[in-house]
Parts: sequence; C-alpha cells; structure tokens
Amino acid sequence: MCGIVGFCGKNNCADLLIEGLKKLEYRGYDSAGIALEVKNKITVLKAVGQVKNLENLVKKSGKNSYIGIAHTRWATHGKPSLVNSHPHTDCTGNIALVHNGIIENYLELKNILIRKGHKFKSETDTEVIAHLLEEELKKEKDFFNAFQKTTRKLKGAFALVALSSKFPGVMVAAKRQSPLVAGISKKGFFLASDIPAFLSHTNKAIFFEDGDTIKITQDSIEVYDADFHKTTRKIHTISWDISAAEKGGFEHFMLKEIHDEPQNVKDTLQTLPPDITKAFGLPLKEAKRIEGLYIVACGTAYHAALVARYVIEHFAKIPVEVEMASEFKYRPIHFKKNWLFVAVSQSGETADTLAALKNAKAHGLKILSVCNVIGSAIVRESDYSVFTHCGPEISVASTKAFTCQLTVLYALALQLAYVQNSITKAEFEDLYQEFLNLPELLKQTLKLESAVKKVAKKVYKSPSFIFIGRNASFPLALEGALKLKEISYKHAEGFAAGEIKHGPIAIIDKGIPVVALAPKSSLYEKMISSCQEVSARGARVIFVTNTPSKNALEVPYTNEYLFPLLAATILQFYAYFIANFLGREIDKPRNLAKSVTVE
Ligand code: M6R
Repeated sequence: MCGIVGFCGKNNCADLLIEGLKKLEYRGYDSAGIALEVKNKITVLKAVGQVKNLENLVKKSGKNSYIGIAHTRWATHGKPSLVNSHPHTDCTGNIALVHNGIIENYLELKNILIRKGHKFKSETDTEVIAHLLEEELKKEKDFFNAFQKTTRKLKGAFALVALSSKFPGVMVAAKRQSPLVAGISKKGFFLASDIPAFLSHTNKAIFFEDGDTIKITQDSIEVYDADFHKTTRKIHTISWDISAAEKGGFEHFMLKEIHDEPQNVKDTLQTLPPDITKAFGLPLKEAKRIEGLYIVACGTAYHAALVARYVIEHFAKIPVEVEMASEFKYRPIHFKKNWLFVAVSQSGETADTLAALKNAKAHGLKILSVCNVIGSAIVRESDYSVFTHCGPEISVASTKAFTCQLTVLYALALQLAYVQNSITKAEFEDLYQEFLNLPELLKQTLKLESAVKKVAKKVYKSPSFIFIGRNASFPLALEGALKLKEISYKHAEGFAAGEIKHGPIAIIDKGIPVVALAPKSSLYEKMISSCQEVSARGARVIFVTNTPSKNALEVPYTNEYLFPLLAATILQFYAYFIANFLGREIDKPRNLAKSVTVE
C-alpha cells in the first residue's frame, strides 16, 4: 500500500524524505513523488519505478526545503504513471497533497468540481481532494480550517498530508482508517505511514485516532479529534532497534528475518509476566470465565490462528472458531456469551481485521489483540493486547511475525488451560519449561538452512508444489504454500494429509514435490501412509519431522503442538531458496503490499 512521509522542522528535508521513502519501500509501490515548499512556491517532482529514480531527480534539481511531503504510490485508481503518482496539486499549483487509502465518493465530488470549472490531470481519487481544498479556501481564510472542512466531505479511508505555498511553514494532515504516525525529533516533526520511516532520527512517536486532524509548524504539533476539538495524544517510546530495519549483511530482509526468529521469540517470551498463570493480557477473572474464542485474522496471521485452534482446544479444552477477517465481518454471526474475540495482526492496521473487530465489539464482545505494533489501530480498539516482540518486519512475506504470533498464542493456550483447570500445575510446569526452551531449539533448527537449500535446488523448477500435514501441522501446510506462492509466483497448495485421497491426489504426478509435516504423534503412522500414497504416484516427498528418520529434515524434538513453531522456519527457508533460485524479487513480491489497509 502507499507510503507517506512528511517533514516540517529546522533542517532541510529532501534527504530525510527520500530516506523515509526508502524505509517504506517494503509496503510495495510503483512510483514515487515529492513536494517541497521552496521560496513560497511548491516544487513537485515525480518518478515512475524505484525511489532511486526520484532521488536522482531531486539531486539534479538541487531543490531543498525545511518542509516537504513525499509518497510511494501503489496504484488503485489509474495505472502506474507520472501523472497518477503523488503529490497531487490543485488548479493553481499552490496546494500539494499525498494520500493513502481510497476515497469512495470521489466520482461524485469530481463531477461537482468539474462543473465548477476545475481541470483534472490524473485518474486518481486523490486529486479530487486537492481541488476540494482549493474550493474550500475560496470561502475560508485559514488553511487548517479549510482542510478540516475538506475532510468532512470525504467518504472512505485516508491518511492525508498537505502543504500550501500560500501558507508557508504549515503542514496539515488527517487520518481515517489508514495508518499515520508522527515522529517527534530534535530536527523537527515527521509524519509517516509507518515507524521505520523516521526510526533512525527518533523513537518518540504519536499514533493518531481515526478522525484526527493535525496541524504542524516548525515548533508545534496540534491534534484535533473527530469533532475538531483540540486534544492530546500520548507520545510513545518505540523500543525497536534501528538495526532491525536494516539487512545486516543478509542478501534479503526475508532471510535476515528468519535468522532473527530465535532472538525475537526470546524477546517475546521475556515480556510474558513472571507468573503467566495469573496475568497474561487478560485479567485472571476474565480468563477463568471464557467459554470459547473467536480468532480472526488474515493471511499468515490467519494461519497462526488456525494452528492456535488445535493448541487451545487440546490444552485448554475450550472451543475455538477461527475465521478469515474478510469473511467474518459479513456473516450474521450469533455471538455467544462469554466468548472472547481475538484479533491477530502483525501490523495492527489490516483493514479487514479491524472491521471484523469493530463488528464483534459492537456486539458486546471483549477484544484481545495479538499485535506487533504498539499504538496501531487494532491495539487501540482492543480491551487487552499482547505484543509479539519482533521489531519491524520489512519483508512483505511474513516470517518472524508468524513464529512470534504462534509463541503468544501457545502461551495463551497454556494460561487458559491452567486457569480453567484443564491441566494440573505439574503438567503446566512441564509444558512451560519445554516452551521456554524454544529460542534454543529455534537456533538449532536454523542449522538446517543449507540442507533445505539443497532440497530447494533440486525442486525449484517444478511448476507446482504441495504441502501436507495433520492436526496443528495442517495449517502449517497452508502457510508453507502461501509463503511459496507469495515469493516464487508458483502454484502451491496445502492440504490436510487425510484429505488427499478425497480428491487432491488426482494432481499428484511424477516429480511433484510434496512437503510432509510429520511430528512424532499418534498421527505419525497415518502421515507415513499419506506419504506412501503420494510417492506411489511419483511424488518427491520432502519429509519434515522431529524424530530420527531416513532422508528427512529433522527439527529438534518437542511435543507435536510446538512442532509448527520450529517447522515454520524450514518452510520459510524452502520458499526463500526456491524464489531465490528463480531469481524473484523476494522482499517486494509483485502485486503484494505489506500492510493491507483497504477492505
Ligand atoms: O499485518 P497483518 O498480520 O494483519 O497482515 C495480514 C496479512 O495481510 C499478511 O499476513 C499477509 O498474508 C503476508 N503477506 C503474509 O506473508
């Protein structure tokens, strides 16, 4: 999705804005642009393709300023092109504006503005806002008031930042459903779609509420709520280390992020309270009376939720319903009393998950979120939150966030199991001890990297890839297929191993690689049978297990419900190396955005 960076302060900011855009490249984009206020005029520069192209243009122009806005565009309305890229301007060229989101009533507004004589240059919904603001300024003398009135006329989702050469030194912004965060530094104020854009300059951040409008000058930041009343928003200190947003010598962020997993899981475990049986996100009273859970998420986070269903139902013995957020929000769900709604999201900004959460909240459910970003929209809407501590995840394909989500959800399963008396204290302590050993076991699992690479080299030319598993490892098969699809653009599917014979076996052909996820468990023999069924039809079985076995990728032994936390890294390496052998653009796969902030 689009990336926004704005700066207003005491420093020249062209470099800061370009640096910020580079840090947001992971969000996915097709063009980039910048607007600088130079000598009471707005200079707009745009380039199709990479931020580097824009950087060269800016350098060549020699333009600089202490106030500016910049943008990476991910096309929604109109093809990727110079004219459609942001910033957009009004008829006079005095106003420049960047936008992330979708303006639903833009056509209606555009027709009114055309009738009033406005001339449009692009096909975008965004340009309408610049002209609307121009129109508002004909009636209203104050830039910020006119901007606030403009936002009232917009339907849809947006994060907006605007400048006007008629009001030098003022940057205005608004947030409704799309992410926008401010960075407070000694140099000045940043506005951005995500923290990495300014993390190397400050770790002090303000997250805005939906409906907020913001006025920034060199020395001040003012926030107004949805009713345009002046308000204050908390300044958060971000604990992320800037090195987490750097590649650190690895060829790709994805590879680095897989290698970060032992440390990230360790950090996540360390933030759990010393006595997890007493307080873990949920107050004890709440945890005791829960009769069931709805867990809702998208993509990889949805797969983490599916794994959690098996773990929670097994240990805590309470029912769990898991659903994709994009489906959940439209179902006429008859919410059950004393059920808890759990939202799982790395970014905390996924529009589908947020919409499902709001629906559950409106029906009186208590909300627990499992998120990676403090202050994100999902966290702000939740009654309780537990954080994954994996720092910024830059690669579009989620890896370390998945493992940390599984970690938090496993902890939740153990807590519920204990407080609801589904397991004894002694059982809890044994399980918890094994759980705390996870970072060490993950470190050992990473040693399988070169073995996985060898396997990937043998199979990467296959047109199709299959993953199978049972029980808690079935959703892991889905995740393995998603990861591979995302970054290799190859056909990949995950199946419940027992389901293969009910149809999917028809696609098994000579040489097709089938990854079989087979931890030692009561279903182990059944997994072997599934492997025999597919290899009898010519499949090349890649056996991933935690018990000694010939020609297998063997991760350290744990109980079968912890196995997905270790085997996930094998699947992540597998996807990574296949995509790398195919020469794909791993960190920024085609058509994908890191944070999907539109429904
Ligand atoms: O930020 P979220 O966890 O809410 O994002 C959910 C999905 O969009 C995300 O997991 C997506 O599927 C990733 N590209 C997976 O690699």
